[in-house]
Amino acid sequence: MTALTLTNVNKSFGSVHVLKDINLTVEEGEFVVFVGPSGCGKSTLLRVIAGLEDATSGTIDIGGDVVNTVPPAKRGIAMVFQSYALYPHLTVKDNMGLGLKQEGQPKPVVDERVAKASKMLDLDRYLQRRPAELSGGQRQRVAIGRAIVRDPKLFLFDEPLSNLDAALRMNTRVEIAALHRTLSASMIYVTHDQIEAMTLADKIVVLRDGRIEQVGSPMELYNNPANRFVASFLGSPSMNFLEKSVAGLAPGQTLGIRPEHLNLSETGQIRGRVTHVERLGGDTNLLVATDAGEMLTVRLFGQNNTEVGATIGLAFDPANAFYFNDQEDRIYQAAA
Ligand SMILES: Nc1ncnc2c1ncn2[C@@H]1O[C@H](COP(=O)(O)OP(=O)(O)O)[C@@H](O)[C@H]1O
Ligand SMILES: [Mg+2]
Repeated sequence: MTALTLTNVNKSFGSVHVLKDINLTVEEGEFVVFVGPSGCGKSTLLRVIAGLEDATSGTIDIGGDVVNTVPPAKRGIAMVFQSYALYPHLTVKDNMGLGLKQEGQPKPVVDERVAKASKMLDLDRYLQRRPAELSGGQRQRVAIGRAIVRDPKLFLFDEPLSNLDAALRMNTRVEIAALHRTLSASMIYVTHDQIEAMTLADKIVVLRDGRIEQVGSPMELYNNPANRFVASFLGSPSMNFLEKSVAGLAPGQTLGIRPEHLNLSETGQIRGRVTHVERLGGDTNLLVATDAGEMLTVRLFGQNNTEVGATIGLAFDPANAFYFNDQEDRIYQAAA
């Protein structure tokens, strides 16, 4: 069954058109990530699904029911925000159980669901603590626990890891992925971080300026981006875009090549000078000014002794190159 269907959803705030003709399905059990730059409409779309904002037009169908006029609490969803929004004077246990209690669930049911969720999240030792006595990661787990106990049809996460430091973000990301496997629930996860999108999603929805640019699995989007925006947004370091540095490019055409698809080679198609070297241990990134005056990044696997100032040649397999027209759409070249 389909967990969510959005049909021609639009949202305006006054004269500002924020969401533009959004059409999307989320299958049951699917982990869908909305990704895009700040301000592109990710949170607004999530809030429209949750019922915290009304759609200006279009329909929102959750689990087979059109919910446009259904209040948030009756939509069968649970939302986790970047700001954990915990009650400071309540214990972990009471924060997690409050929603169920307010729904009028009997105490044994509340206790049992809180016990189960806190075990799942490794919070069972902290049930009597207050939020101030927890780390940021633990607080976010409480907020996730508060969503789990409600047993929603659909989980909505809005940048839940943005307030955590890098190491904790990685741990919590792995925990969320594990949670998705355990619960086999449908989840929509909003982020501006392409690494979270690539690592968590069954399906990525790339948004730009209120429109869906492309939908697909992480590897589909990485290997087959529909346009320059999607190509540049996914992957780190980002894809290189060259107009002048490779012979044979038609005017208005841009060649896209990922940093890991460039290799040092004296007979390569590109020549340039190394302007900066980043030695990361496992990888080495070279910043290169090409002879035609464009900058690009090369990602070499492992350690490499190339120095700043070196003159180098770079080769790539044409099968790994992408071409874009002056509208930034992909050009699909006929195979040679
Ligand atoms: N309540 C509101 N009133 C007016 N404009 C809003 C409101 N909420 C969001 N917006 C605008 O909608 C756009 C998308 O915002 P948002 O959905 O928060 O983006 P994102 O979550 O992708 O960063 C922004 O330009 C923002 O200023
Ligand atoms: Mg947002």
